Amino acid sequence: MKNFINLKDIPISDLRKILTDAKKRKIKRKKLNTLDLDKDKPLKGKLLIQMFEKPSSRTRLSFYLAIKQLGGGTITLKSNEIHLGKGGESLADTAKILSTYGDGFMLRTDSDEKILEFSKNLKIPVINGLSPSSHPTQVLSDVFTVEEIKRKPISKLNITWIGDCNNVLNSLIAASIKFSFKLNIGCPKNYKPKKFVLDWVKKNKSKINFFDDPKKAVKNADVIFSDKVISLNDKVNVKKKKKDFSKFRINKSLINQAKKDVIFLHCLPRGNEVSEDVFLGKHSHVWQQALNRVHVQKSILLYCFGKLR
Ligand code: CP
Ligand code: NVA
Repeated sequence: MKNFINLKDIPISDLRKILTDAKKRKIKRKKLNTLDLDKDKPLKGKLLIQMFEKPSSRTRLSFYLAIKQLGGGTITLKSNEIHLGKGGESLADTAKILSTYGDGFMLRTDSDEKILEFSKNLKIPVINGLSPSSHPTQVLSDVFTVEEIKRKPISKLNITWIGDCNNVLNSLIAASIKFSFKLNIGCPKNYKPKKFVLDWVKKNKSKINFFDDPKKAVKNADVIFSDKVISLNDKVNVKKKKKDFSKFRINKSLINQAKKDVIFLHCLPRGNEVSEDVFLGKHSHVWQQALNRVHVQKSILLYCFGKLR
């Protein structure tokens, strides 16, 4: 049994194994319907419990399909409908119950500490389905999408992030260190990542560079990533932050500064950080990106359940 909490704590050999398995399984499913099972049904009889403390469309649906296609099932809990933290039920007791009924636990939460607490108390694997500090299932799947479209290892590509230094970027930074790819980050000077992220970047002598000019950040880019300026956990002056990011909007003229065959990716939901014509234009692969989460999360589940071959 293995947890999937933060990319930085997972060996690169395991991350590669997950991607290789996802590729094989995706190819084998070409002629199957959405709810048809993978032939080997490796998680037959297994239950994934999902819990969301904040909204989700893609993570919820993609985990639902992932466990179903592997032969298992899922139930989704809303945190306000269970006893945890209310009526005196401790996290340890809830964890014991989850471990009694289920085989795996996927949690989207406002608290990184809560995931760690669960990992200490659960007897089943825990998967981070987005926390304030990271979004590892999203970014591992994004590495898959980049390599699928570009038909090259990501280490041979120039990756650019334009936007807020948030949870998704933290995971992209972790991926950059693990998979050894060049990462340019374009963001306003006073919005750099938190110190613990920068310290980690420094310690790993990574190929990460910061730019406060978006045009310089996208020069020679093979891939441009972005995400909402205002994240779910942001407690900021929204008007001011949006204004501070206004020159970092991804539009056609910015895309034209990158390589001709640059691709645009975005985890969704989107805001005003990208123009409609770019988001829906020929460089954008956001729908393929969203669907790939099903394929990669299947292999993440197999990894966590000790069934990855
Ligand atoms: N990208 C992503 O995690 O989307 P949801 O918030 O809809 O799950
Ligand atoms: N950074 C965004 C990602 C949403 C999938 C957020 O945390 O709201």
